[in-house]
Amino acid sequence: MTTDGFILGLDIGTSAVKAVLVDLAQTVRASASVQLTTSRPWPGWSEQRPEDWIEAARVALAQLRTQAAADFSCVRAIGLSGQMHGAVVLDANGTPLRPAILWNDGRAEAECAGLLAAMPALPMVAGVPPMPGLTAPKLLWLREHEPGVFRRIATVLCPKDFVRLHLTGDRATDMCDAAGTLWLDEARRCWSAEALAASGLVLEQMPRVVEGTEVSGVVLPALCAEFGWHPGVIVAGGAGDAAAAAVGLGAIGDGDAFISLGTSCQLFVTTARYRPRPESLVHAFAHCVSGRWFQMAAMLNGASCLAWAAGVLGRADDIDGLLREAAMVPPGARGVLFLPYLAGERTPHNDASARGVFAGLSASTTAADMTRSVLEGVAYSIREARGVLASAGTELDEAGVTGGGTRSALWLQIICDVSGLPLSRLDGTELGPAFGAARLARIALTGEAVDMVCTKPKVSDRFVPDPAKTVVYAEGFARYRKLYKALRLAMT
Ligand code: XUL
Repeated sequence: MTTDGFILGLDIGTSAVKAVLVDLAQTVRASASVQLTTSRPWPGWSEQRPEDWIEAARVALAQLRTQAAADFSCVRAIGLSGQMHGAVVLDANGTPLRPAILWNDGRAEAECAGLLAAMPALPMVAGVPPMPGLTAPKLLWLREHEPGVFRRIATVLCPKDFVRLHLTGDRATDMCDAAGTLWLDEARRCWSAEALAASGLVLEQMPRVVEGTEVSGVVLPALCAEFGWHPGVIVAGGAGDAAAAAVGLGAIGDGDAFISLGTSCQLFVTTARYRPRPESLVHAFAHCVSGRWFQMAAMLNGASCLAWAAGVLGRADDIDGLLREAAMVPPGARGVLFLPYLAGERTPHNDASARGVFAGLSASTTAADMTRSVLEGVAYSIREARGVLASAGTELDEAGVTGGGTRSALWLQIICDVSGLPLSRLDGTELGPAFGAARLARIALTGEAVDMVCTKPKVSDRFVPDPAKTVVYAEGFARYRKLYKALRLAMT
C-alpha cells in the first residue's frame, strides 16, 4: 500500500467547480471553489460551455497550489465528480460541437415518448423512464433539431468526463454517471447496445465504463509538468455527484440514506441490489463502488430556490439576514405556499413544464414570509420524495444531510418537521462530492477496502421532528399537493 502523497478531489458542479486537497489521514489541507455561469438561451433550457469547466478547474487547482504548495506538489491521485446527465457532444478531435445541455434542461420532453416507443423495456433496464433531464432524450433532440451537429458526434461524455479527457486523453466514465445517461444496463453494469440504438447511437461513441474506484488513466506528462507533479498521477473513475456525495458521507451500506440539498435536491439510499421501480420515478442506478446500487428521488429544485428568491427580493448578498427574518415567521409562512418547480420537476412528477408558484399572497405578505414559504416548499418536495421512496419499497426512518443548503439550521429543522425524518448533519459535509471523489481516488491509488476508507463522519448536529409543528405542516403538505395538481390541470 502507498503511504505517502496527497489526493485531489475535483467536483464539476453546476454553480461552481470545487477542489479539495486531502492527505492520507483524510484531512483536508486546502479547498477552493470557482463559480460557473449557466446560460438559459430559451425558457426551460440550461447550458454551459465545457471549456469553462476546464478554465475553472485550472483556477481552482492554482488556488490549492497557493494555499498548500508543498502538499500540492505531492499529488498522486485525482478523483473526479460532477453534475450528472449533461450531454457533452464532441467531434472526432475531442472538441465540443456546441454548449453542453445540462441536467436541469427541459427541452427534450417530446423525445421521451419516442425513446420509450423505440424500447419499451428501457425503464427496467436503465432504472428510470425517459425524462427530459437525462442524457438520452437530449441526443434525440439534437438529431431532430440540430442534425448537422448530431451527424458529427464522435463521442458523448458527461461533464466531469470532459475534464478527464483533458487531463488524461482518455474517454472514460464511471458507473454512476453512465447510469444517469439511460444507456447503461444497470443490472449488468455495462452499456446497453439496444438503449444506444434507440437514441441513434453506437457503442463506439461511448466512453469506457469503469468502477469509481478503478484507475481510468494517467495525467498527461505536459500537465504534470505544468502543475509541478511527478509523472504518473492517476485519475480514478470517480462518480456522478450523487454517488460521490454518498461516498463522502460513508453511505455505502445497504439502507444508508441522506438528503443532498445543493442546487438540486436528492433523497438517496444505497441498496445491495438493483431495485428498479420505474413507475415511481425513483431512479435505480449503479453506485460508483462495485456490487452496489442506489435508489434516488431526484428533485430539480433545492438551494437554487433560496438563491433565486434572495435575488428577486433584492437580498442576494444578505441571505443570512433573510434567513434570520424567516426564522421569526411561524410555520405555515402566514398562509404563503411555494411550489419549488422553477426548473420543472423530475421525481415525482416528470413534468419539465412545471413552474414555481407563490400562492396565498396578501397585501401584508413580507419578504420574510415569502422566504419561509420557499424553505417550506422545498421541504414539502422532500416529504413527497420520502413517500415515493416508500412506494418503491424503501422506508426511511432517519437520514444524513449534505450540500450547501444544509448550512442553515433553520432549513434543516423545517425539513425535519415537514418530512417527519430525524436528520443528522455530519462533520465536513460542506466539502460535498469533491471529498467523496478524493476517497475514490485514494482507493484507486492504495487498493484499500472500500469500507475502510468510506467511513461515516461524526454527527455534528441532530434534528428531531417537533410534533406540534409536524401537525401544522401536514395541512400545508395537503394544500401543496392539491395546488400542484390543480395547476397542472389549469396550465395544460
Ligand atoms: C441527479 C441530478 C443532479 C445533478 C446536478 O439526478 O440531476 O443532482 O447531478 O447536481
